[in-house]
Amino acid sequence: MARVFGTFFLVALIFSIAIAGEPGPLQDFCVADTNSQVLVNGFACKNPSTVKAEDFYFSGIRMRGNTSNPVGSKVTPVFVQQLPGLNTLGIAMARVDYEPGGLNPPHFHPRATELLTLIEGTLEVGFVTSNPENRLITTILHKGDVFVFPMRLVHFQRNIGTTRALAISGLSSQNPGIVTIANAVFGSNPDLSIDILAKAFQTSDNVINNIQSKF
Ligand SMILES: *[C@@H]1O[C@H](CO)[C@@H](O)[C@H](O)[C@H]1NC(C)=O
Repeated sequence: MARVFGTFFLVALIFSIAIAGEPGPLQDFCVADTNSQVLVNGFACKNPSTVKAEDFYFSGIRMRGNTSNPVGSKVTPVFVQQLPGLNTLGIAMARVDYEPGGLNPPHFHPRATELLTLIEGTLEVGFVTSNPENRLITTILHKGDVFVFPMRLVHFQRNIGTTRALAISGLSSQNPGIVTIANAVFGSNPDLSIDILAKAFQTSDNVINNIQSKF
């Protein structure tokens, strides 16, 4: 009896692992039809017979991103919103440009693990493990190095070199999502109330007010 139950448990475990990621496609492709009124998990498919090469093509990362912003970095996503052919395929990518000192600020992807390759420059990278340890795992990347940011963990990259840096990331979802911590916490719409943030960050209303004014 125990053995039967054990086998059942093992099968249940394997099955639960198999469905833990994004569902596999049930057809060759499902190019996103962003004009469709049909609401599904993902995007509805374009009629496959009308699909063209351009549905699988994107030239938007040829050029450097515009890093003239307070953090000195720019993420140019190649997600399903930019490349409709990615719909249902469970993969995406991004180009990230950094000025010297530029920071891709702490953020996480609610639906994707990220595998970053440093093409040019020198980056300090890291992620923080979940509660209660909140351990910072960090290192320095040189040109050609690769680093993985596990799904849903807060992570960052900072250009510690004297020249521009360029990275290319692969992400394990066609729609990884980005939650930038500072923007979500201090720049929500409407604002989180100041007393909530003052207590959460163990600081004064004035400090929170000042930070909120920047987002
Ligand atoms: C880059 O962004 C800044 C700030 O938004 C803007 O003023 C500037 O015109 C942009 N540069 C280019 C080349 O688009």
